[in-house]
Amino acid sequence: MISKTMQDAFSEQIKNEFYSAYLYLGMAAYCEASNLPGSAHWLKLQAEEELEHGMKMFDFVNECGGQVTLHAIDKPTVEYPSLLKVFEETLAHEQKVTALIKFLYSLALKENDYASQAFLQWFVTEQVEEEANASHIVETLRMVGSHGNGIVMLDRELGRRAGD
Ligand SMILES: [Fe+2]
Ligand SMILES: [Fe+2]
Repeated sequence: MISKTMQDAFSEQIKNEFYSAYLYLGMAAYCEASNLPGSAHWLKLQAEEELEHGMKMFDFVNECGGQVTLHAIDKPTVEYPSLLKVFEETLAHEQKVTALIKFLYSLALKENDYASQAFLQWFVTEQVEEEANASHIVETLRMVGSHGNGIVMLDRELGRRAGD
């Protein structure tokens, strides 16, 4: 049986994962409106992944005999000054989520909750990938600068992202 502390912490993180999905969907809306269909595609897949993260945690808490609380999700922005800003915010957000996952893990250690520790391993690894992906795109966009050609090419590359 999962502890009340872990159950509440997972409920909080479920909200954070769904907020992530909403944040990326807002970015996708900006890209759709800015003639960046490849970036929009990438961000929509990213949003779907975040929903899956939230659902993984939802199912885990229930399997452990807990009960999830659903918190309100903040309204994300759909206005960005540039594609670079979109991915800078993506990277900053993923870094924040990494810290949240680490906090959850430290809580699981404190609670001697081995099942949650094992479960959270996947998320620890996933965050390494999430940060690396966002960082790579930010670096590319910084190299490209304001050159339209480069942005068009990167947008095409992002459009080739495959779903799971
Ligand atoms: Fe996530
Ligand atoms: Fe993420």
